Amino acid sequence: MKLNKGSNLFILGLVTLLISSCNYKIEKEINSDPISVTDQLRRSVSYNQVKTEVFQSKCISCHGNSGGVNLESYSSTLQNLNGIKKSVLKSKTMPKAPFSALDRRQLEVLTAWIEAGGPEKPIGGGDGEPEPEPTVIEPNFPSIKKHVLEMKCISCHQVGQSAGRIPLVTKEDLLESPMDIVVPGDPDESGIMIVIQPGARKFMPPADSGISPLTEEEKNAIRVWIQNGAP
Ligand code: HEC
Ligand code: HEC
Repeated sequence: MKLNKGSNLFILGLVTLLISSCNYKIEKEINSDPISVTDQLRRSVSYNQVKTEVFQSKCISCHGNSGGVNLESYSSTLQNLNGIKKSVLKSKTMPKAPFSALDRRQLEVLTAWIEAGGPEKPIGGGDGEPEPEPTVIEPNFPSIKKHVLEMKCISCHQVGQSAGRIPLVTKEDLLESPMDIVVPGDPDESGIMIVIQPGARKFMPPADSGISPLTEEEKNAIRVWIQNGAP
């Protein structure tokens, strides 16, 4: 068969199109793939691993031990195993905004754990991961930002969000705000301390956000930091 240059190009184009549409199909299939986990992961996963890799970053801000669904202890988490399976893996109604959906690794760990029946220790033997260290919040800005502001405030208090007018992202945001968010040396005059007290006129985080109120430890770290002059 004799082909001229034009039809050669045409065939080349056709082939490229076929290949790329194939790739597209494969990609789509991977993305919508149901999560499948290896037997190894199913045998090695433990409550502590799920707590460290999934619950602490995506759930415990709202599901700590202050009432309702408590994911901080093994026994209460086990009681909610079915609800977790339904709301995270099936209907995907959890986690709630402003928290983002689980990434693939987190979905795999959680799926493996649920398929294994929600064991406290790995069903394949061994002790599982050591109990995660309770986070200690230090009275300095980086620690407060990481453990408190990012978990409970910044989802709203950044440009473009509902409280973008009052950003709480950088130390300057707190120290140089015309609203006296932080008055170095004077926690009682600092807006940030006022709004986190029970009964505050504008209580933060807002009750209807689903984000749990600050713990005594969290409040205390902020208080001590401000008392020390907010260095
Ligand atoms: C921003 C807050 C928030 C986050 C983050 C969050 N939840 Fe929830 N969750 C709620 C609220 C509020 C309810 C009760 C009202 C409702 O069901 O809508 C709830 C209800 C539930 C329930 C019981 C109701 C049901 O659907 O069975 C389960 C189980 C649950 N959450 C699991 C999780 C898990 C697991 C995560 C993390 C992957 C998570 N949640 C993250 C706020 C949150
Ligand atoms: C769900 C969203 C949301 C979360 C989470 C949230 N805030 Fe707010 N906050 C708001 C909104 C909305 C306002 C009102 C903004 C305005 O007046 O423009 C506000 C106002 C404030 C104010 C000013 C109050 C006044 O007297 O006007 C402070 C201070 C504040 N928030 C601190 C915090 C701190 C600290 C946290 C975390 C512990 C937090 N907020 C978490 C939405 C949120």
